[in-house]
Amino acid sequence: MAILITGGAGYIGSHTCVQLISQGYKIVVVDSLSNSNIESLNRVSELTDTEFPFYNVNLLDPDSLERVFEENHIDSVIHFAGLKAVGESVLRPLDYYHNNLTGTFNLCKVMEKFHVKKIVFSSSATVYGNPKLVPIKEDAPLSATSPYGQTKLMTEQVLRDLFEADSGWSIALLRYFNPIGAHLSGRIGEDPTGIPNNLMPFISQVAIGKLDQLSIYGNDYATVDGTGVRDYIHVVDLAKGHIKALEHLMGTTGVEAFNLGTGKGYSVLQMVKAFEKATRTAITYSIAPRRPGDIAECYADSTKAKKVLGWVAEKEIEEMCRDTWRWQQRNPHGYKHDQVLT
Ligand code: UD1
Repeated sequence: MAILITGGAGYIGSHTCVQLISQGYKIVVVDSLSNSNIESLNRVSELTDTEFPFYNVNLLDPDSLERVFEENHIDSVIHFAGLKAVGESVLRPLDYYHNNLTGTFNLCKVMEKFHVKKIVFSSSATVYGNPKLVPIKEDAPLSATSPYGQTKLMTEQVLRDLFEADSGWSIALLRYFNPIGAHLSGRIGEDPTGIPNNLMPFISQVAIGKLDQLSIYGNDYATVDGTGVRDYIHVVDLAKGHIKALEHLMGTTGVEAFNLGTGKGYSVLQMVKAFEKATRTAITYSIAPRRPGDIAECYADSTKAKKVLGWVAEKEIEEMCRDTWRWQQRNPHGYKHDQVLT
């Protein structure tokens, strides 16, 4: 029996593949490679000394997806595949709705056909919109501020309805806070296309000299120092959360949402300082206007994941910064070039 990982070549997907294999699970990976690089999976194999089936398949192509289920004994699915750039989703809403929703419909239909009814879905803290209360609990009001966020919210609803219609399904909706860091080896990590949208890859590209300076989007929020506060979580902790969720699904049916975060909030300025300290590099920055759609503070109450899944985030901010930096230094151009800058 194997676990199907959709989007397994991506940032969180590749780290989850490593954890699954190290814990003795068999995996099958599907990825369209539209926003990821096959090299990440080569490195998963290298790190784990294990080969696994890979299919270059887009979830928008249900016939090819069916073939994956025909050729493998799939027992459960971890579903990462999807478009994820917030700004781009505002410009290309139809692509986001089509890709993220239709992809999930196709996946679930094929799963139904093959009587596979266990799925871990890669959701996001973005489903809390602009939260009224922090730390955020799973039963907080849900809303979306972008088409990307809508697709996460709508997919959660689709999966809930699926369970209403057939109580044989077992579904975990994992709401990630802000994943950063990289595998300790420095062999896999986040490889954004073009100029990074997210804070941590931007900081590390300034540190390596690829970008001149960080723009801090706003210093007039009602936070500790005026800059935005987020819950940064090490991607390896996040990957482990998927395995805990999967193990939970093995013994139950139902649909449950879980926050995966550390419960601690760090401001942008605190992150800049933490990165500088952990890596002994200086980050040039300037204050810029607020980014549209941004919120002041967002951090998790993850007690449900602790109680129900037995999961807690273990890694601290220093380790997250060090691991991000190791990956950045060893792979200054991501997966495209394997050389180190001198
Ligand atoms: C963003 C997305 C969110 C998505 C998440 C994935 C937006 C509005 N939200 O969350 O939907 O699930 O990424 O990880 O894009 N910042 C700067 N300068 C930068 C980049 C970021 O000051 O160059 C600040 C932001 O204003 C924010 C913090 O850093 O306060 C974190 O930003 P980011 O890493 O983009 O994550 P989120 O906005 O939390």
